[in-house]
Amino acid sequence: TTTDATAFRISRTSTPLSPAEREKRMTAPGFGRVLTEHMVSGRWAKGQGWHDLRLSPYGPLEMDPATAALHYGQIVFEGLKAHRLHDGSVGVFRPHAHARRFQRSARRLVMPEMDTGMFVRSLEELVRADRAWVPDQTGHSLYLRPVLYAEEAVLALRPAYEYRFLLMAFVTEGFFNDDLNPVTVWVSTRFARAARGGTGDVKIPGNYAGAFAAQVEAAEHGCHQVVWLDSIERRWVEEMGGMNLFFVHGRGAGTRLTTPPLTGTLLPGVTRDALLTLLPEHGLPVEEVPLAIDDWQELCASGEITEVFACGTAAGVTPVGTVRSAETRWDVADGNAGPVTRRVAELLAAVRHGSLPERHGWMHRV
Ligand code: COI
Repeated sequence: TTTDATAFRISRTSTPLSPAEREKRMTAPGFGRVLTEHMVSGRWAKGQGWHDLRLSPYGPLEMDPATAALHYGQIVFEGLKAHRLHDGSVGVFRPHAHARRFQRSARRLVMPEMDTGMFVRSLEELVRADRAWVPDQTGHSLYLRPVLYAEEAVLALRPAYEYRFLLMAFVTEGFFNDDLNPVTVWVSTRFARAARGGTGDVKIPGNYAGAFAAQVEAAEHGCHQVVWLDSIERRWVEEMGGMNLFFVHGRGAGTRLTTPPLTGTLLPGVTRDALLTLLPEHGLPVEEVPLAIDDWQELCASGEITEVFACGTAAGVTPVGTVRSAETRWDVADGNAGPVTRRVAELLAAVRHGSLPERHGWMHRV
């Protein structure tokens, strides 16, 4: 039997943090450090389905050393945000899209899918319990992190029969911590992120762990982030690992944008998808077309590419100012954030904070 959402058990922390202590923790929160006071937990077992869904005070877990996820990495996660809206209420941005991607990731790793209703209910319960943790400051938000992992204590090499769902939240500012300051990116040729038929198009920890070596290499070359190329031809720009890329062509009335198509080796970002819908509605046409790394450099030199930015739930909109690789380096225009990037950043912020109406049902008020 599947436990329906009404079986959700709720136990709130008995001694909430004082407003003064909470305010202190919420100041300069960085990314991923300031967890809130509650969490959601749920279980799934073969033959039983979902059960034991609860909201409880945030705290450590007890874990069997043989927990399958620790050994074989059967884990999927999501990342989405709750924002303080212009009228003081709270809205979660596109929870249904994130629920669908969570299901797709789970299917890829042969894990149980959580239905959208249960996923959204979990978000609602946590955001309600920790509503005071949703920042007022523009650019700051509550980042929601659902994760599902194989909890069965067995080292057998097969999909597990028992799973655990957790949902936690942390207060966050921009991922790069410096609004619209351009980043320098490193084109990795030594490492690859994803192969055809692999797991590059789902949100699983292994994609990120596998990218750390390139991230370290990038940092050693003074770069903030890695740009990933396709792993076969080593030619086509894919994504930044945690962010998708958009290229601005031309200026003024003739401005148009491109972003790499979803070839199965890059993550279908929810922010990417939102911009594909939103930008044309605001006079900025976007096409999904592949871009070769050499063309990126050439079109910057010829002045056709005028701006480049990355986008993601965590990153929002982040301008790319300079590109570097082992052989070469170039600037995008003068290396500063351009007018289209600024406009896109403002549009996205306005939609996320509910000050610009959208007609797609993206804003889920809690
Ligand atoms: C996001 O939430 O935008 C990301 O994908 C990055 C996250 C893994 C830190």
